[in-house]
Amino acid sequence: MIIAGNWKMNMDRASAQKLAEDLSGQAASMNNNAQMIVFPPAILIDTVVASRLNENLQIGGQDCHAQPSGAHTGDISASMLVDAGCGWVLAGHSERRTDHHESNQDVAAKASAAIDAGLSVIICVGETLEERMAGKANDIVAEQIEGSLPADLPHDRFALAYEPVWAIGTGQVASPEDVDAMHNHIRDVLVARHPNYAKVDILYGGSVKPDNAAALLALSNVGGALVGGASLKADDFIAIAQST
Ligand code: PGA
Repeated sequence: MIIAGNWKMNMDRASAQKLAEDLSGQAASMNNNAQMIVFPPAILIDTVVASRLNENLQIGGQDCHAQPSGAHTGDISASMLVDAGCGWVLAGHSERRTDHHESNQDVAAKASAAIDAGLSVIICVGETLEERMAGKANDIVAEQIEGSLPADLPHDRFALAYEPVWAIGTGQVASPEDVDAMHNHIRDVLVARHPNYAKVDILYGGSVKPDNAAALLALSNVGGALVGGASLKADDFIAIAQST
């Protein structure tokens, strides 16, 4: 079970240090199988690496470039994330797809660069409200998976996050019934692509909070959560990790 915290463009050095200390301290004494990973802004990765009390708290980047190095002002390569102490990276978060116009092809190229550099990757997909209302959610998500997974992606180096765009940061969580149906659909799409993808964790993301986490994490094809807002408070993030 993966409990991932996407800090987005939040926190500063002092608050990142405190959160890393609190989370790693708690992670060491948790008696379930939750694997806690935080995704700080790139400039705070060093702080989190230096502040965590142990490696039970894992660290990832929020994005990486598809090229290993070169003239790409403002960007960060996958190997730089490895060098900084990261084991993970996110690819294709809906905010990157929208704000930076990242296509499925861009996401696949980034995921591929991440694997080449030695990272594991969480690839994000999810439909908009308009697409859901039009009855297209399953098709859109299948299309995103088809396009965003690079060829030969090893099953033990990635997780897939289903994050309906309308549920992100809105407080409007998808119902357990909808999540169950979509995760079963995603499993079928993954397994059709490769039988080993039966083992890949499928995370749910979108307004996950301590009071709704248990019902979502209990579903058979839910292998964890990708948490935004509630990952910024140690107590909330720990409570989510403990509800598995
Ligand atoms: P949220 O964000 O938990 O604040 O809805 C989730 C995400 O974007 O990963």
